[in-house]
Amino acid sequence: MGRGNVLVLTGAGVSRESGIATFRDAGGVWEGVDPMQVATPRAFAADPKFVWRFYDARRAHAASAQPNPAHRAIAAIEATGRPFLLATQNVDGLHERAGSKKLVRLHGSLWRVRCTACAAEHEDLRPKLEPLPPHCTVCGAMLRPAVVWFEEPLPMIEFGRAQFAAREAELVLVVGTSSLVYPAASLQMAALESGAYVVEINPETTSFSAEANEHLAGPAGVVLPALLLAAGIPMEQVV
Ligand code: OAD
Repeated sequence: MGRGNVLVLTGAGVSRESGIATFRDAGGVWEGVDPMQVATPRAFAADPKFVWRFYDARRAHAASAQPNPAHRAIAAIEATGRPFLLATQNVDGLHERAGSKKLVRLHGSLWRVRCTACAAEHEDLRPKLEPLPPHCTVCGAMLRPAVVWFEEPLPMIEFGRAQFAAREAELVLVVGTSSLVYPAASLQMAALESGAYVVEINPETTSFSAEANEHLAGPAGVVLPALLLAAGIPMEQVV
């Protein structure tokens, strides 16, 4: 894998083998519910309880899921000590539970809540927050999930770190994302333009496959451990 900077970009596909549905595949989250009804500021303003029910169900599901070999392989790359960053679009917390530390969450976290009035934000690891909607312990106003919704900007510091890493990286692994959602999907393009070697790992071809230097077709939980084996990186040095 060379000795330069490594950037790993992940999407919902990396958690598929943990039993968490992706968004746009058959049977995906957006097949059952219209994103405009649960993942926009307008939807939350119109019916906060409905939106909270959607996120509470996802919290409960994520809490019962376990990190899979793909999450563990990514944590193992970081554990080698080479310059590394993981930038994930996922909000499920499975990367953290697999031992990843150098990570930025481009779309927030299911496990954080933010006050709609005073903007106080904190971690809340309870799988269920009922009664819904929950309220701020500081000022009493309604809390919202600290995730990024459509029509909202990405967290500036996190996205800036990912952009910097994309420009500096020698190797970029793009794992389990359809590369359809911007600005997250601009990172792999920026990395290519800066001369990184960009490898896509996905059982399907995506809108990005033709651009990538390489497309490794297969489930992340199979392909990533095989790559580590080939590179002589042990999986078991991580939790
Ligand atoms: P998508 O559902 O758009 O894409 C998931 C990708 O994972 C697809 O390309 C699948 O082929 C691939 N995939 C499926 N199983 C896999 C496996 N076992 N290993 C590797 N890849 C696999 O999900 P994202 O690209 O993450 O944003 O979606 C990006 C954003 O759109 C999400 O963060 C979310 C969503 O709307 C918001 O909610 C704001």
